[in-house]
Amino acid sequence: MTSWSHGYPADSPYTFSFQAAPAPGNLALVCALMGVEWRPAPRMCMIDIGCGRGYTANTLAAANPDWTVLGLDYNPAHIAEAAELAERAQLENAIFIEADLAEMSDAEIDQLPELDVASLHGVWTWVSDSVRAGIVRLLSRRLKPGGIVYIGYNAQPGFGRDMGLQRLFRHLAGGHAGPSPSRAQACLGTIRELYKTNPRNLTTTPLLTRIVDETDPLNAAYLVHEFLTDHWRPVFFEDLLADLAPAKLDFVGSIGLHENTPAYLFSDEQRAIYDTMPEGVMREFFKDICLTRPFRRDVFVRGLRRCDAAAAMDRQIIAACRTAPEASPKFEVPVGSAELPEELWRPIAAALNKGPQSLGRLRSLTPGRNPTAAELVTVLAGTGLALPVLRDSGPTEATTRFNRIVAETYANEGRQGGQYALASPVAAGGLPCSWLEMAVAVRVGQGQSDATALITELLPGIAATELDAIAQKTAALIAANTAIWRRFGVI
Ligand SMILES: C[S@@+](CC[C@H](N)C(=O)[O-])C[C@H]1O[C@@H](n2cnc3c(N)ncnc32)[C@H](O)[C@@H]1O
Repeated sequence: MTSWSHGYPADSPYTFSFQAAPAPGNLALVCALMGVEWRPAPRMCMIDIGCGRGYTANTLAAANPDWTVLGLDYNPAHIAEAAELAERAQLENAIFIEADLAEMSDAEIDQLPELDVASLHGVWTWVSDSVRAGIVRLLSRRLKPGGIVYIGYNAQPGFGRDMGLQRLFRHLAGGHAGPSPSRAQACLGTIRELYKTNPRNLTTTPLLTRIVDETDPLNAAYLVHEFLTDHWRPVFFEDLLADLAPAKLDFVGSIGLHENTPAYLFSDEQRAIYDTMPEGVMREFFKDICLTRPFRRDVFVRGLRRCDAAAAMDRQIIAACRTAPEASPKFEVPVGSAELPEELWRPIAAALNKGPQSLGRLRSLTPGRNPTAAELVTVLAGTGLALPVLRDSGPTEATTRFNRIVAETYANEGRQGGQYALASPVAAGGLPCSWLEMAVAVRVGQGQSDATALITELLPGIAATELDAIAQKTAALIAANTAIWRRFGVI
């Protein structure tokens, strides 16, 4: 542990991963669904607090040349890498700041521009009280009235079941010397052996199941940042809300759209109890008791103003990010699946395959039997079939350059997995993809379309026996996705 890090591991970089949740199109959708007034403005200032290696902030900057995107982190290695990527991609609207949230003075905070949007993904429940206090001071002093905040955090009681596992990790890692990644890896064997003995208080959770599964090893950088901080503490929603009070934040809703719709969440018996509860904190707590929700992704606004949810939803524009299937897609929710009747789905699928559509238009394609916009978008967003879009655009120099540089620079890391996205001026954010899809899209944008040549170039070590199969898959990917990449303005 480095001496300046306040108990957070700073000797190894975090994963290079794109987070889709804070894209303003997603925030606008949650606000519309919940009948809360908020729209992305043509010119805005965003901040990614605890931005890690800056991939999300840089993607948002590339996709939105008229927005200023700040990334703030105290780890100089993170900031150096993020700033270098911004400079190579010539993103003058991406600004990276090395600052320690626990130690920023009010005067330093006040040098930041006023903020329209703030994002905190994977920070709040990993850091000390003094860092959390710094976050609240920053939001209190710089978030504009009407500004919006996204927070992704480990929630109680869902993630509380992993507290024993986290403490066990820290104790075991304390017995090993060396850099954090090797200390984290060194714990895995003992945890796997212990798990086989069925210890009473090492609860089998999804995270523990991943850790004991040797066939699908968790990334060492993830293990370090998840387990080797001194301050890992899942929080109850109500405690987070209370801590945020100085910034005058009101809860809007959750990024997982179905989590805002009780009909998708509860059995009849649970629903009867839920309906007796007062709106607000108590109902959110009840959800956390009933649902499997270890990680919450919540949206807050500074100054909640109500609007007509139905009208706001009808205005939202979405676009399919894969070919809409003929059969009505099913999205698994706690009480079964959310889906539209086949006869309502068919014209919606046909329209989505033509291009971006407003939710209002999609709803009106089946007169007399209109699905609600909430039903429609819950299925589309939940299955990953569609994304909100904010503008009509072809590829820009910034997105083309940025996507190419990311595909080239992160090839080695990308081949091992990870979360990538093509910067899209249409989505005003990222179009999620694998690294290989990104590399293929970039090449297709440059006019290359021969799948075999393309794969030989991208995966030079590939065995001759595998080449045909992968080239075929790539040809199918190109055939299915070229229109979609164009729709999102990435080629
Ligand atoms: C789990 S990582 C999440 C990174 C990024 N938001 C993401 O989701 O990819 C937490 C980040 O918080 C940063 N951090 C921790 N303590 C901090 C502090 N006192 N001031 C500023 N950043 C801090 C770490 O350096 C790290 O990049």
